[in-house]
Amino acid sequence: PVKVSKICCIGAGYVGGPTCAVIALKCPHIQVTIVDLNQARVDAWNSPDFKLPIYEPGLEDVVRQARGRNLFFSTNVDKAILEADLIFVSVNTPTKKSGVGAGFAADLNYVELATRRIAAVAESNKIVVEKSTVPCRTAESMRTILEANSKPNCRFDILSNPEFLAEGTAIADLFSPDRVLIGSLQTSEGLDASKSLADVYANWVPTERILTVGLWSSELSKLAANAMLAQRISSVNALSAICEATGANIDEVAHAVGFDSRIGPKFLRASVGFGGSCFQKDILNLVYLSESLHLPEVAAYWRQVVEMNEYQKRRFAKTVVDTLFKTITGKRIAVLGFAFKADTGDTRESASITLIKDFYAEKALVRVYDPQVEHEQIWMDLTEAIPGTPVDSIKKQVTLCPSVLEACEGAEAVVIATEWKEFKEVDWAQVYSKMEKPAFVFDGRMILDADALTKIGFKVTTIGRGSV
Ligand code: NAD
Ligand code: UDX
Repeated sequence: PVKVSKICCIGAGYVGGPTCAVIALKCPHIQVTIVDLNQARVDAWNSPDFKLPIYEPGLEDVVRQARGRNLFFSTNVDKAILEADLIFVSVNTPTKKSGVGAGFAADLNYVELATRRIAAVAESNKIVVEKSTVPCRTAESMRTILEANSKPNCRFDILSNPEFLAEGTAIADLFSPDRVLIGSLQTSEGLDASKSLADVYANWVPTERILTVGLWSSELSKLAANAMLAQRISSVNALSAICEATGANIDEVAHAVGFDSRIGPKFLRASVGFGGSCFQKDILNLVYLSESLHLPEVAAYWRQVVEMNEYQKRRFAKTVVDTLFKTITGKRIAVLGFAFKADTGDTRESASITLIKDFYAEKALVRVYDPQVEHEQIWMDLTEAIPGTPVDSIKKQVTLCPSVLEACEGAEAVVIATEWKEFKEVDWAQVYSKMEKPAFVFDGRMILDADALTKIGFKVTTIGRGSV
């Protein structure tokens, strides 16, 4: 097997950046160059005061230690490809917006462009690693492209090495992963390439956590893991609707169910709906795959996980309107949290976007506060979610606020959409004093002490909690 000494990572996003920064930190003997076409992103990774393009606890520290030593960020894609013995392809694979499979299939255009670039530039053998989440058998297409376009005497071994990090805990996940999954062809060349990559991870990951499997199993395992995680949330959210209608409490139900060691306690938190760039996209990708394989029952099964999630978001918005005497027209509603989960500035598929869109349609005056998300990002997301409406019209109904207190000023209701810790630490009595009465709280994340808030005077609705 080749001993890897130079790595190139194509794509300096939420995955490529943290993943390869950690490889550089843990493998000082390997030179790691992360490249991207987006100049602003690369500049941010290189910024002297470490204003990195993504917010992730612990990331800055990793970059501070490795950047300039054996970690480099660049827009010179060709140079990094030319020098590397191993290349991660970590570009975005969003859901297609048009054409065949629109709304379901993964858009593989970026993967293909990156692959074609590797073929055009490479002058020596390369191990090419799919880091992006891709449909099953994408490695085969990559191989065909590479082999059809490469220079003579260049061999490419293709591996699948999906990434399992979650945003907000990326660095901890990368330092101590549950497992590293490497898929390869089961040929001697394929197995050698797999060993080369396994040796990189073995610098800090215990070998029993490095799983080596076939290429197609590895690709499918990534979709499967995300589908099953999302399915747990949709299951618990479906139960939360039953709880609200019966007086049961989803916290207690999830706790009791999760105590079964076969089920386990993690990932059973009812919420206003899952968000993030992965779950919905990867399930829809699995649905599309099932349909293309003529397995409509399998497709319908997984599709329901996404439909339940849409239902949960709609249901929550409707609860707010119904509770506020069936109209929120002209009423101030404070939405706390815009990120799709705590400890990230990422807003992709955030439930907040859907909620605000619904409140906007009801003609409410929405006041948004998030401790991390850039205002520019919020306006971009809302204009995309409310198509055909100029941002100035949206601004007549939506105000971005610099603090919880300002968001809640004069509001009739507060909606908790993201589980930021600071929302628990707010002086709720002071918030109450600034609000219209009756003052409502809708806790979509089960983070507030409903009894304490009720004592202050709030009318509290918590997701998954029926009135006793
Ligand atoms: P991202 O959009 O943050 O980053 C992708 C980057 O690739 C962008 O900066 C883009 O400019 C760059 N890029 C695209 N085409 C390029 C090209 N031809 N050459 C150079 N750069 C190019 O996306 P992400 O969140 O990092 O996701 C990347 C992949 O990892 C996706 O397939 C995703 O499904 C998967 N994934 C994401 C997560 C997550 O938590 N975000 C977790 C696991 C897996
Ligand atoms: C997910 C997977 O966890 C990760 O392994 C994969 O690599 C990428 O996709 P991510 O989307 O970053 O990671 O965050 P995750 O913690 O999984 O949360 C996803 C969404 O589900 C968030 O909106 C979160 O708030 C929600 N969630 C999570 C719940 O509603 N309840 C839970 O119990 C857990």
